[in-house]
Amino acid sequence: MDGIKLLNVSKFYTVEKESMKVLNGIDLNIPSNKITVILGRSGCGKTTLLRLVSGLEEFDQGEILGANSKKKAYVFQEDRLMPWLDVKKNITFGIRNKDIDNSKIDDIIETVGLKKFYNAYPRQLSGGMKQRVSIARAFACNPDFIMMDEPFSALDFFTREQMQKELLKIHQTSKCSILFVTHSIDEALILGDKIIVLEKGVIKSQYEIEEKSSTRDLLNSKFVKLKKKIIDDLKVI
Ligand SMILES: Nc1ncnc2c1ncn2[C@@H]1O[C@H](COP(=O)(O)OP(=O)(O)OP(=O)(O)O)[C@@H](O)[C@H]1O
Ligand SMILES: [Mg+2]
Repeated sequence: MDGIKLLNVSKFYTVEKESMKVLNGIDLNIPSNKITVILGRSGCGKTTLLRLVSGLEEFDQGEILGANSKKKAYVFQEDRLMPWLDVKKNITFGIRNKDIDNSKIDDIIETVGLKKFYNAYPRQLSGGMKQRVSIARAFACNPDFIMMDEPFSALDFFTREQMQKELLKIHQTSKCSILFVTHSIDEALILGDKIIVLEKGVIKSQYEIEEKSSTRDLLNSKFVKLKKKIIDDLKVI
């Protein structure tokens, strides 16, 4: 399956009659079956980029190719669970009854560590658990393209590490394409097949990592060097 291509994409917002260019001439290839990470400081345009690719927001200039034909799922920056539905129903919400594959849903719930909370309501879950329900919901509808907006930012160090591993596992089996937003350089290096550094609405640099995520060691000199490079890219001049 082909990937998604952005050609010279720009987006303006008007705030108090002043036009602000939030994304400026983005040229980007999002390869299929890979994890592409958008990395950048707060306010650089990461969520906006995801919203344009998802079609939730219109762009003002340029072209986005290949996105319309994909079956897409979106994990929002904040969890968006229905408080009146339990975990299972939140996960299957939006899937037609006849298309619900119960054994697959059970597997996903188990993978995200919520087996004991199958029938719990969002108010009975911690912030991290709610995020895991959102992730399970995204994978439950068998998407071929998932956008994830800082899905692990509410998690403690260890849960985050565990969720990163689980995401890699699910990705291995589902083989979908993932566009993943983070402001953590380490997270980008752990997950990304491709890392896009975004700075004030423009692509500052991009890197491709050939090494399999499962064998990466961030203390290896190759990754330490890459991390230093990315830190330099992110420094505001
Ligand atoms: N609907 C909107 N109307 C006006 N300005 C907006 C709107 N949405 C975003 N912006 C502005 O666009 C810029 C980029 O916002 P965006 O949410 O894409 O940043 P981000 O990189 O996701 O930041 P964070 O890491 O904090 O989530 C910000 O300056 C923000 O104020
Ligand atoms: Mg954001």
